[in-house]
Amino acid sequence: MPKGMIAASMMCANLVNLKEVVRLFEAEQIEYLHIDVMDGSFVPNLGLGVDYIRALRELTSIPLDLHLMVERPDEKLSWLGIQKEDNIIIHYESTRQLQKVLEEARKYQANVLLAINPGTPVYCIEEVLDYIDGITVLTVNPGFAGQKLVRSCIRKVEKLKKYLDSQGYKNLLIEVDGNISFEHAQILRKLGAGLFVAGTSSIFRNDNRMQDDIRKLRNCIE
Ligand code: DX5
Ligand code: ZN
Repeated sequence: MPKGMIAASMMCANLVNLKEVVRLFEAEQIEYLHIDVMDGSFVPNLGLGVDYIRALRELTSIPLDLHLMVERPDEKLSWLGIQKEDNIIIHYESTRQLQKVLEEARKYQANVLLAINPGTPVYCIEEVLDYIDGITVLTVNPGFAGQKLVRSCIRKVEKLKKYLDSQGYKNLLIEVDGNISFEHAQILRKLGAGLFVAGTSSIFRNDNRMQDDIRKLRNCIE
């Protein structure tokens, strides 16, 4: 199994010293910057938008993990300046025409991941396995940082991994998002997760020990 990867959750980053934080992520070879795009309708919060993404692109070439928590995601794809190293994360619950939207997302040549909320069962991915590069399992109900993991999601990741292996989709990436503490990361790694969203539960606990916490998280997901 290739080493686990980190997506740093930028909604948790302090804007005042964004530049220094991004430099540290580059030095620590953080694989992705996780961008929570929120429209106040699909989730009860507003979040990182087009101008923020544009500014971040000027600051760094670390690829983006674009988590689209918006209604009608297909209509917004062209706003985001998607690059081929990025991940585009589309929610199962955000559209009635999932296959069509995933096909639309594939046109950007980036990786396409399907996200499922805590209450959405694993089997909903069955008909679209050929259109995705991975699955993002939300381990909290999305919208806010600092929430508590929904326990049933641990079992869900285990079930998902077994299902993918049994169907011949071993290579699909499993991402986990929400309250990924060191302990949860370690457990979920063993169950097959490969990409970990790091927020206030790990690397954004305290600006002064961010480097140590990144290294600690690395050890948990080797
Ligand atoms: C949800 C968000 C949050 C958050 C992750 O979409 O991605 O899960 O930033 O960080 P914590 O560790 O605060 O849950
Ligand atoms: Zn997210």
